[in-house]
Amino acid sequence: IKRIAVLTSGGDAPGMNAAIRATVRAGFFYNLEMYGIFRGYEGMIQNDIKKLESKHISHILERGGTILKSARSQEFRTPEGRKKAFENLQKHKIDGLVVIGGDGSLTGAHLFYKEFGIPAIGIPGTIDNDLAGTDLTVGFDTACNTAIEAIDKIRDTATSHDRLFFVEVMGRDAGFIAINAGIGSAAAATLIPEKKMPIERLVERLKARTKAMKQSNIVIIAEGGKSGGAAEIAEKIKKQLPYYDIKVTILGHLQRGGAPSSLDRVLASKLGVAAVEGLMQGKYDVMAGVINNKVVYTPIAKAIVGHKEVDEYDFHVVKILST
Ligand code: F6P
Repeated sequence: IKRIAVLTSGGDAPGMNAAIRATVRAGFFYNLEMYGIFRGYEGMIQNDIKKLESKHISHILERGGTILKSARSQEFRTPEGRKKAFENLQKHKIDGLVVIGGDGSLTGAHLFYKEFGIPAIGIPGTIDNDLAGTDLTVGFDTACNTAIEAIDKIRDTATSHDRLFFVEVMGRDAGFIAINAGIGSAAAATLIPEKKMPIERLVERLKARTKAMKQSNIVIIAEGGKSGGAAEIAEKIKKQLPYYDIKVTILGHLQRGGAPSSLDRVLASKLGVAAVEGLMQGKYDVMAGVINNKVVYTPIAKAIVGHKEVDEYDFHVVKILST
């Protein structure tokens, strides 16, 4: 391996810059030439590829977003798009690829490796934490901190007005941010896509809390749940809880921004180094992750299958602490 290109793809996540920096610095350490592909696979197709120097990656570790920009490329989903992308990599004589992103982005890397044999390795970068092969994905910890900080603020006003708030958090079809936010912000109830909670049970719980004179009630709703988002659920139950002034807050893209937490910086830095070393050791079509504090490489095909389960014990804790 002589020339590695790095890209960020899909939804951005805090810590992506730290992962870019670590990848590029590790490449320099091993005397490799390093390239940046802008706007993910879209930039690969449009030949938006530039050689990176030290100055491009200085003081980016602490910044949110991604200096390489990100996109969700429709064209890369087509064989023609991937062929164009491969030809552009050939023009720059790129012989190794580091893809930082979530399941869609890693699926792209897997397909690309299968079709063209270009050595590719993934770094899990998504606030959703929904990839197997790593305990945590880059960005998840910061997103949880952001969500919890926001919910603390909502609680202040909820308590002042004795209001019931439904707060919707991101996570696509996974409930990891929701369950963490539920535990970390003492929610009255937490609804995640992985566990069905009938609306009647939620209503009973809230009625019981009224009897217990709870001052404020925050219900966390994961965006991907089958019963609908926060607004829909609030609408469904408002008639059954007429004495409550109900408010809805959707945290949205707020959860994707901001400086990465210490945990995300360290994780991203380890994985950047691991990605370059993995490629040099001939570990292709794998994702670098950290399990039990050790770097591990998992075939991308395994990392993206379904998504890892929310820990049963976390759910147990949420249940006990919100009753
Ligand atoms: O995958 C990250 C994520 O933020 C999800 O939690 C969310 O469902 C989705 O991306 C939003 O995507 P977009 O920014 O394209 O609207």
